[in-house]
Amino acid sequence: MKDLGVGVLGTGWVSGEHIRAFEANPHTQVRAILSRDKARAAAKAEEHKLASCRAYDRLEDLLDDPAVRIVSVCTPHHLHAPQGIAAAKAGRHLLLEKPVALDLAGLRAIQAAVRAARVKTLVSFVLRWNPLFETIRALLADAVVGQIFYAEVDYMHGIGPWYRQYSWNVKKEMGGSSLLTAGPSRSSLIRASARATPCSTNTSPTASRW
Ligand SMILES: NC(=O)c1ccc[n+]([C@@H]2O[C@H](COP(=O)([O-])OP(=O)(O)OC[C@H]3O[C@@H](n4cnc5c(N)ncnc54)[C@H](OP(=O)(O)O)[C@@H]3O)[C@@H](O)[C@H]2O)c1
Repeated sequence: MKDLGVGVLGTGWVSGEHIRAFEANPHTQVRAILSRDKARAAAKAEEHKLASCRAYDRLEDLLDDPAVRIVSVCTPHHLHAPQGIAAAKAGRHLLLEKPVALDLAGLRAIQAAVRAARVKTLVSFVLRWNPLFETIRALLADAVVGQIFYAEVDYMHGIGPWYRQYSWNVKKEMGGSSLLTAGPSRSSLIRASARATPCSTNTSPTASRW
């Protein structure tokens, strides 16, 4: 029974993937979409054939909608903490895109809001469920490769103007840094696969599209 209504924030690439996943889940249904332009939210709902989905252009209005029990944050990085905090304060469970916040203060603020509201959260580290990494975890659990003393994750992505999020992603006040764009999922893989905390990270610019 699809009894968990979802409100999706943002109408970009990732929001479409969240919508598809929520619609495929037997328990969830997208009931609201937030955009800076209401028509764009309505168009996104139409694109995904969401029959009972409302379009909003103000977060407060979406959070007032009783059909929304989970909020999925798919906006630029600088909005994750303020939108996540507002949603938690409104008693909504959260699916947050990475990074959770631009800095440690933002992270602590959202942590406090979530704890106070006692809502559930998940950060979108989807690679943890990628079959390749599930296989690596299984091999490690079976001690096939012995004791690990070094683990490394490399991620190559020729982000450039062709990539929609590039317009905000390269601005420090919105994207934060290249590490915040590309790093969180890789750090998460080290934690999940090698059960270790990363001790070193490095990002370098790339000039071309892959
Ligand atoms: N987990 C993963 O594997 C993965 C992969 C890629 C990206 N991500 C993360 O997902 C999030 C969204 O990425 P995306 O690729 O979907 O980005 P995107 O295509 O640029 O979409 C972001 C959406 O946020 C909304 N928005 C609100 N305020 C905005 C502003 N001031 N400037 C620009 N857009 C604004 C826009 O919708 P409206 O114009 O309708 O308001 C826009 O479509 C980011 O946090 C990114 O790091 C995660």
